[in-house]
Amino acid sequence: MKMSIILAAGQGTRMKSDIPKILHKVCGKEMIRYVIEASTKSGIDKNIVVLGHGKEKVGYNIKDMNVETVEQPIGDDLPYGTGCAVMAAEEFIGDEDMVLILCGDGPLISEETLRSFIAYHEENQYVATIMTAYLDNPTGYGRIVRKEDGSIDKIVEEKDASEEIKKIKEINTGIYCFKGRVLKYALKKIKRDNSQNEYYLTDTIKVLNDEGAKVGAWVLEDAEDIKAVNDRVQLAEVSKIMQKRINQRHMYAGVTIIDPDTTYIDDTVKIGRDTVIYPNTYLEEGTVIGEFCKIGPDTRIIKSTICNNVTVENSKVVESFIDDGTCVGPFAYLRPGTCLGKNVKIGDFVEVKKSIIGDNSKSSHLAYIGDAEVGKGVNIGCGVVFVNYDGKQKHKTLVGDKAFIGSNSNLVAPLTVEEGAYVAAGSTITEDVKKGDLAIARARQVNKEGKGRNRF
Ligand code: UD1
Ligand code: CA
Repeated sequence: MKMSIILAAGQGTRMKSDIPKILHKVCGKEMIRYVIEASTKSGIDKNIVVLGHGKEKVGYNIKDMNVETVEQPIGDDLPYGTGCAVMAAEEFIGDEDMVLILCGDGPLISEETLRSFIAYHEENQYVATIMTAYLDNPTGYGRIVRKEDGSIDKIVEEKDASEEIKKIKEINTGIYCFKGRVLKYALKKIKRDNSQNEYYLTDTIKVLNDEGAKVGAWVLEDAEDIKAVNDRVQLAEVSKIMQKRINQRHMYAGVTIIDPDTTYIDDTVKIGRDTVIYPNTYLEEGTVIGEFCKIGPDTRIIKSTICNNVTVENSKVVESFIDDGTCVGPFAYLRPGTCLGKNVKIGDFVEVKKSIIGDNSKSSHLAYIGDAEVGKGVNIGCGVVFVNYDGKQKHKTLVGDKAFIGSNSNLVAPLTVEEGAYVAAGSTITEDVKKGDLAIARARQVNKEGKGRNRF
């Protein structure tokens, strides 16, 4: 069996956070989830995640994934280190298993990289293989010390390294493959004789070497994949790279992104072909966008479904559904529970909340539509307010098909305006309007001759 052990018990002190490090989000998704996904996709049958700090929160977050969790005991007087973390998962390791070790704080690791790495390990029949990389600035990483014949000798942590060793630019990525039996054997032999008084997983390499076992190293060409997040500066760097990858994925799949540098798309978002995304647009939390849409500029869409041929311009859309051919914006705000039919127009400075609006209806400017069911082909004039709140409770308004709501009217809920009814401009409507009727509810106009002139 091929299994992985994903190390995720560390505190992440440098994040200065109340949230466990690996639950910090990169492009809308918790870091640990990327690692588990890449591992599974690379052909791993079973992922074991080692939890410690924040174990409840982390466990809860990944409970829907292909994982089993194990706990590393954490406490001031308990031993610590990557070696300890793997020891905690020992009961899961079968003698003949191929064990891939990953870190929960490296979300950029890709399925392809892992596949190549595992293949190298297996083809060469090593008992242990380290993934290494060359970095211009290797500070902070464990350094790879090679023997004269070029084979691996040992890994030395930055904190234990001499000036000479610190000059080595080849680093340990923290990703390894082991043969199960060999890993368990080597773990029993490592000690805490280092500057941090920790069990280093890296010391297993030296142990195996000294016993003449066949240890390999695979050099990763493009070190982007192994960038880890230890602080918020690295979180931003890694997020930038991830965003570039996500945007490229959409572009290769037929989406036009005018300016990828200012387009922020969560990993969980889906977009159809021939849709165009304009600059400064944010698509978040599982939003789905259809084909031939125009989204942005300056738009934020959260947890929403947008069908085909839809335009959303300079607007915010939250937990809403928008059907084919509908136009939203500029400057509209669709709040949770909004459901727009086909060929609807929601124009500038219109806010819609928890309302259904039927096909071909229009609210072109300056309106508030809340807790309403609006039929098809309805015209909602400029400045209309659906008065849904009496100070204590919210009430519903029903507007039938082809009704006409004149400009600057108030529809005071609970209220029904039936099919084809006409509400005159400037009316405050408190009583239901029957099918096809005209309602006028405003003071009658009085013109007083010459009185206007007297004011000057
Ligand atoms: C480790 C490696 C270093 C490598 C680097 C790559 C060791 C001794 N050093 O160093 O050679 O260059 O990763 O990023 O292995 N963790 C636990 N339990 C623990 C300690 C750590 O689960 O008791 C987890 C952390 O949550 C983290 C991972 O192990 O996901 C790595 O730990 P970290 O402290 O970041 O190791 P580094 O010092 O970066
Ligand atoms: Ca680290």
